[in-house]
Amino acid sequence: MNKSRIIPPEELKKQKEIADEVLSYWKQKGKKPLAHIITYGCQQNENDSERIKGMLDKMGYGFTEENEEADLILFNTCAVREGAEMRVLGNVGALKHLKAKKPDLLIGICGCMMQQEHMSKQVKSKYKHVSIVFGTHALYRLPEIMLEALSDNKRVFSTENSIGAIAEDIPVYREGDIKAWVSVMYGCNNFCTYCIVPYVRGRERSRRPEKIIEEIKELAQKGVKEISLLGQNVNSYGNDADFNMDFADLLREVNKIDGIRRIRFMTSHPKDMTDRLIDAMAECDKVMPQLHLPFQAGSSRVLEKMNRRYTKEQYLSLVDKVRAKLGNISMTSDIIVGFPGETEEDFKETLDVLEKVRFDSVYSFIYSKRSGTPAATMPDQIPEDVQHERFDRLLELQNKISREINEDYFEKTYELLVEGKSKTDENVMTGRTPEGKIVNFNDDGKCRAGDFVNIKITKVGTWSLTGELVL
Ligand code: SAH
Ligand code: SF4
Ligand code: F3S
Repeated sequence: MNKSRIIPPEELKKQKEIADEVLSYWKQKGKKPLAHIITYGCQQNENDSERIKGMLDKMGYGFTEENEEADLILFNTCAVREGAEMRVLGNVGALKHLKAKKPDLLIGICGCMMQQEHMSKQVKSKYKHVSIVFGTHALYRLPEIMLEALSDNKRVFSTENSIGAIAEDIPVYREGDIKAWVSVMYGCNNFCTYCIVPYVRGRERSRRPEKIIEEIKELAQKGVKEISLLGQNVNSYGNDADFNMDFADLLREVNKIDGIRRIRFMTSHPKDMTDRLIDAMAECDKVMPQLHLPFQAGSSRVLEKMNRRYTKEQYLSLVDKVRAKLGNISMTSDIIVGFPGETEEDFKETLDVLEKVRFDSVYSFIYSKRSGTPAATMPDQIPEDVQHERFDRLLELQNKISREINEDYFEKTYELLVEGKSKTDENVMTGRTPEGKIVNFNDDGKCRAGDFVNIKITKVGTWSLTGELVL
């Protein structure tokens, strides 16, 4: 890997020293400050928020879910669709009154949305109560940004553009100790024509394998049982690097780590789903029988306009190959409905892929115009009512398939990793099967988060399963 793309250790050391200054600032005030971090978007953003919290923790901050008691409210944003951006702006706008009541309150916005120039400009001019703004590339400089905002009482904007670099050894603050996300690479080189991610996250850059292994070993020692390896194109891991290792090799290394019992990963791009990777999945006993493999659209004509670099037929034969080697693993996908120029015939090809593959579940999205991407200026943008009508048809078909697949689970027994109490019912425990299916069950106080238990499925629904302990 090109060394200039690693943030130099001296720079990170400087940030640590500045974090200490922020810590003394609060000590002098005799106050334990509280931060409320609100995260939108993908798992990588969740993982970035864990890093933000890690740095804030070193600066003396505790965490709260209540805006009223927070000294810092920070939105870590997503730019992938317009709806997500609108929600952020609405929520930020609603904080104007709180800021007027509590002038010392710091309100910040960071992440992918702020990496777009037009957005940070809009915040600068229209949201004057926001005093901290930084993009994805400035994350590691949070201590410096915080110190400036606290001591100079002025607005700080750090949204410089960059192809991106890797900052290692930033402290990570993780909630829960059963499962952990570990980013193995950052950025994206694919430039699908609808997508903003390559513009706001920079180019692909893989972390060095020894750093990843070290992090996972530490997690295993703390009792973490399940690891999810993250990257926008996790299976192109190593393509950009000067070390000789690909994602298949990385999986094999992670599979060797004692204490880790389950490995998952996302997101895989079909073009990088090599035979080597499929073989590694088959060989590694801890890699779970699950694959998230977005196809986006069924029509090869639309796929070409999306710059996805595969055809419908290539995607379907890839699924056949995966199933031939890995058996009937659980498969999920992402789909975009109503891409510019999508005809009724094109859309039917998408439904056809759903029927042929029979995914366990899909994440489907209505196409959203992203300014600066090639698709935003393509002719034949699809009217909203047509998009919605297609979206509803797609959901109806997929819900039927998801339910039918779940019915196969009825009365079978699965090993579950218990994750804890259900969010909706104190008396119910929840966990996941190897395939990643959520199962709720009543344990009469017999198990704890982190246990592996056998559960027989007693009831199936479209979204979740219910079961009972097999003792
Ligand atoms: N790197 C992953 C995920 C990217 S973002 C991948 O390539 O699959 C997650 C999903 O958001 C994408 O898979 C796509 O389905 C959806 N998405 C991205 N841009 C979008 C847009 N402009 N409108 C609607 N959905 C979009
Ligand atoms: Fe976006 Fe395509 Fe990259 Fe995924 S692969 S992040 S959809 S550009
Ligand atoms: Fe959104 Fe950024 Fe993730 S745009 S999907 S939060 S990489």
